[in-house]
Amino acid sequence: MDRLEHVLLIGPGNVGTRLAAALEAAGVRVERVTRTDGWPRAADPGVASPRLVAVREDDLPDVLDRLAPVARSRLLLVQNGFLEPVLGELGDVSRGLIWFTAKGEFFAELRPSVFSGPLADPLVRALVAGGLAAEVQTDRRAFMREMIIKGAWNGVVGLPLAVHGLALGEYLERCADEARALVDETCAAAGAWYGVEVDPEAAWRRLLETTPPIRWVRASSARALRWRNGAVVAMGRARGVPTPVNERLVEAVAQP
Ligand SMILES: NC(=O)c1ccc[n+]([C@@H]2O[C@H](COP(=O)([O-])OP(=O)(O)OC[C@H]3O[C@@H](n4cnc5c(N)ncnc54)[C@H](OP(=O)(O)O)[C@@H]3O)[C@@H](O)[C@H]2O)c1
Repeated sequence: MDRLEHVLLIGPGNVGTRLAAALEAAGVRVERVTRTDGWPRAADPGVASPRLVAVREDDLPDVLDRLAPVARSRLLLVQNGFLEPVLGELGDVSRGLIWFTAKGEFFAELRPSVFSGPLADPLVRALVAGGLAAEVQTDRRAFMREMIIKGAWNGVVGLPLAVHGLALGEYLERCADEARALVDETCAAAGAWYGVEVDPEAAWRRLLETTPPIRWVRASSARALRWRNGAVVAMGRARGVPTPVNERLVEAVAQP
């Protein structure tokens, strides 16, 4: 595909809305698909346009079931978490690692978002033309490394804030050893599971470099755990890599 002309955006929430704004600024027609509207066309294999899937991780299994008639090469997923440990092999989908924070009116680009797969090139060209920082990663293993670095980031910017009741900036100052252990465990467990080596020092530096604009972030509840810290624990168990700090924090929010 040379140029992106039309996409179906499934999940026009915080991330979807920001991606749609950039695509529309670049002249791409964006057809929004909500829980209630637009699904007959989204699930129609006769509609060739890419499906940009921007729902939360917990809604992804249902959305992928509904998209089963559509070729995987037409799907682009932008969820944060570790998807394969929960969903299994994803096939020929394109993936995005979103490096901006969008919460209502708040929007900050932390570094260029990274896209990989058959739709990455036309999507990135349109996003950049529309004013978003984005880049393509064609090397599959390099993308996996980036995904694990982002996974380590998400394992810190979430669950431990909910457990300790701290804002991100306070947490990184007061509990730096715990945050570093979470990053190290994620790199070791996910690296073993995906079969790539990830430098935990690089993941730690990335966390420190990208979080200053969002030091105020808090997490009143721990979300999508089975895709994040819970996935790290599961990947560690599957590969014999200890993840005691992730385990302790996951247990701290477990329902009795
Ligand atoms: N926000 C960020 O800063 C950020 C940054 C990086 C990555 N991400 C990742 O991006 C993903 C989306 O996050 P978000 O913050 O944009 O979440 P969000 O604001 O809750 O948006 C998700 C949207 O998907 C919709 N949705 C759910 N099920 C659907 C279905 N079956 N059909 C159509 N639409 C459906 C939701 O509708 P309802 O409103 O009805 O629930 C909502 O509009 C998450 O995986 C997140 O980890 C987010």
